[in-house]
Amino acid sequence: MKALVLSGGSGTRLRPFSYSMPKQLIPIAGKPVLEYVIENITDLGVTEIGVVVGERAHEIIEVIGDGSRFGARVTYIPQDRPLGLAHCVALGRGFLGDDDFVMYLGDNMLPDGVADVAADFRAARPAAQVVVRRVPDPRDFGVVELDGDGAVRRLVEKPRHPRSDLAMLGVYFFTPAIHEAVAAIRPSARGELEITDAVQWLLTEGADVRASEYTGYWKDTGRAEDVLACNRWLLEGLRPSVAGAVDAASVVEGSVVIGPGARIVRSRVTGPAIIGAGTLVEDSHIGPGTSIGPACVVRGTRMADSIVLDGASISGVSGLLGSLIGRSATVVPALYGDAQHCLVVGDHTRIEIAA
Ligand code: TTP
Repeated sequence: MKALVLSGGSGTRLRPFSYSMPKQLIPIAGKPVLEYVIENITDLGVTEIGVVVGERAHEIIEVIGDGSRFGARVTYIPQDRPLGLAHCVALGRGFLGDDDFVMYLGDNMLPDGVADVAADFRAARPAAQVVVRRVPDPRDFGVVELDGDGAVRRLVEKPRHPRSDLAMLGVYFFTPAIHEAVAAIRPSARGELEITDAVQWLLTEGADVRASEYTGYWKDTGRAEDVLACNRWLLEGLRPSVAGAVDAASVVEGSVVIGPGARIVRSRVTGPAIIGAGTLVEDSHIGPGTSIGPACVVRGTRMADSIVLDGASISGVSGLLGSLIGRSATVVPALYGDAQHCLVVGDHTRIEIAA
């Protein structure tokens, strides 16, 4: 079996971050989403991995490399424009050959792994095995309808009036039968070749399509609030380790990781939390659910439940909560006259300030 990981896309929901980095590289609990994805794939014993990359290909290649770090062999498959998930399968045709494969969206987090689904697929080898989960509002998903004995009866992409609450998650297992389906479908109203349509085509042609219900933790990390929620969840399982220096005036409590070269000075760090390598935390209180990246400076600040990316600088800010701070960003009190807020804000940024 091979794997096809989808790491192109436009990432509009994760702007402004997706302007400067591929969303699949956003670190959650200190590690890029794409690394969790690749580890879940190698856990299945699958080591031949094709990664579909868009215009930010070079950054992904820089982080993932040839895959040897994961015990895998990675082949990059360029996609000029994000023309849909089924378009990625068509582009991967040469790499996939006539092998079965798992297709994995590079922004989906399933920390409990997909070994059970892989076992279902390997046991029965249907043309397609999709992963579903009950969600309160399935209108933004591909929705799966099952018949009385659990067989897949119909799939609809983002229906306005869903007939079931079973949403398809971003992991699919296919035999090579999917290639004929992908070649047969036409772009949808939004101009994309939809994988949902390709699987529906298989069903219509009488192929065996099955669904496995996933009940573990899952997040599509396509939006900032989901990135933060996933960070909070993963930090709960954090194993503490202190490589950096904590001075005598500081308190570190709960599960805390302090990277090499980090310094905690006159501060309190309440886990679960990660302080990245080389980061300085001074006269601050870092609360639970916080991941601070490497080479940051945090001074005179109280914050919790947040992610701070590499090289950011935060000082004199109290009550920072549920925040995602970009690489080398600066957050400081306003310096001029009576100004309470002085903002230099990138495109499509959202700021929430005290009223
Ligand atoms: P989506 O999150 O559905 O699409 P997107 O990345 O364009 O994001 P947004 O809706 O915020 O604009 O894509 C799911 C995954 O598949 C994600 O990792 C990107 C990847 N993808 C491709 O590689 N190629 C594509 O043509 C599409 C549509 C998505």
